[in-house]
Amino acid sequence: MAIANYTMEKVIDESVQGSALITDLADQNNRKLYIESYGCQMNFSDSEIVASILATEGFNTTDQLEEADLVLVNTCSIREKAESNVRKRLEKFNAVKKTKPHMRVGVLGCMAERLKSKLLEEEKIVDMVVGPDAYKDLPNLIREIDEGRNAVNVILSKDETYGDIAPVRLNSNGVTALVSITRGCDNMCTFCVVPFTRGRERSRDPQSIAQEVNELWEQGYREVTLLGQNVDSYLWYGGGLKKDLDKASEIQKATAVDFAGLLALVAESQPKMRIRFSTSNPQDMTLEVVRTMAKYQNICSHIHLPVQSGSNRILKAMNRLHTREEYMTLIDNIRSIIPDCGISQDIIAGFPTETEKDHRDTLSLMDYVKYDFGFMFSYSERPGTMAAKKLKDDVPETIKKKRLQEIIDLQRKHCLYRTKQYLGKTEEVLIEGSSKKSDAHWMGRTSANTVVVFPKKHYKAGDFVNVKIKDCTSATLFGDAVGLTENNG
Ligand code: 5AD
Ligand code: SF4
Repeated sequence: MAIANYTMEKVIDESVQGSALITDLADQNNRKLYIESYGCQMNFSDSEIVASILATEGFNTTDQLEEADLVLVNTCSIREKAESNVRKRLEKFNAVKKTKPHMRVGVLGCMAERLKSKLLEEEKIVDMVVGPDAYKDLPNLIREIDEGRNAVNVILSKDETYGDIAPVRLNSNGVTALVSITRGCDNMCTFCVVPFTRGRERSRDPQSIAQEVNELWEQGYREVTLLGQNVDSYLWYGGGLKKDLDKASEIQKATAVDFAGLLALVAESQPKMRIRFSTSNPQDMTLEVVRTMAKYQNICSHIHLPVQSGSNRILKAMNRLHTREEYMTLIDNIRSIIPDCGISQDIIAGFPTETEKDHRDTLSLMDYVKYDFGFMFSYSERPGTMAAKKLKDDVPETIKKKRLQEIIDLQRKHCLYRTKQYLGKTEEVLIEGSSKKSDAHWMGRTSANTVVVFPKKHYKAGDFVNVKIKDCTSATLFGDAVGLTENNG
């Protein structure tokens, strides 16, 4: 594994953790792993990679915390609340450990990367701290904790993509799966901790992505979501960081595969597999990607396109490299190429210096787009980011809350506007599983990602069915299945 020169830290803490060693108490080849994931889909996907690595070390996963020999928590640092939730969970693990002293606890993911060995000092329950690029080192790190030492590896890599590992599908519905295609982010939005916790952008070999998708199809999966912090910057030229493309040979540059190319490759290699992707970035998304979506019937008509703010002044302060007008033009182009494309957003309320006028700009942009749905947050200052260094977190909490509520209320209105457009129409739905509220109903999604609930009849999970839409709330469509579509089989 090549280690980049922005290597952070690798520490094996020699402090002995007491005499009750895990080796003494559990059968090494039949240990139980309990893994909990927080935050973005990438973390959930990474946990599947971790489960796969640990399966070869004799760990079987369990969903019962009390029977675990090793507890791992895959963490998120994106907002302060995400971190405090994890700290609360660690308290719960601590209570369990009191009755099971040989249980070991590891922290994975973004909090591990951000806090490094400080986590061992702050949270006494933690035995092991492992950053998002260091999971292949887990067998060694576990050996360390087995011998009673704490272990830390938070080295960020320039080429680790885990492309060679077949994930163990956790909590799977057997129909939809996550496939990671890029890691890291080079965009440096000033509010965001991700470039620090996940390192620089790297792309995964397209052949290994296509192979994973093919294997998923063989196993019965019918939908994949291609994952990356910023999928539009996907670029494969034989490996290495995106920023090092200049150093590539002419042949490498000429045969490079970009995101549009990857989408086409996956869509063609599995023409009946539904393909989704997340997350797009307005400054990096090309119209070639949108045209490729339109060209292949199996690429879903949905784009998650975070905007963060509708104010040019705030977008600039966020280091988002597009204006409100450019974003609106992109939306117009998407709608002219794919008229019924579902579009969703991420928006932050109360970024430093945000005025009432900036906030109204966000509301008016939302009115323009009328997003199908969205994820809305109030600004949370993250240590080490440009915004934390340069800008005072000066919007009072009460104002942040009020603006966030206005954004949420407007989004709810737009959600209902969008779901009502479906009434009386017939939509193709992929059945994912039973509805959470009723065992007599299936739940699935339209291509545009809207949830549909309908009576089960003789259909089964994994079927593509036509559903006639009869009713809706702002979040859900209700209807009746009227037959299988030609996509089955
Ligand atoms: N405060 C609030 N929200 C944030 N996000 C990222 N960083 C922060 C922060 N510091 C939101 C953005 C991003 C989503 C994943 O999380 O909207 O798109
Ligand atoms: Fe964070 Fe911006 Fe990268 Fe998204 S694009 S992960 S918000 S830095």
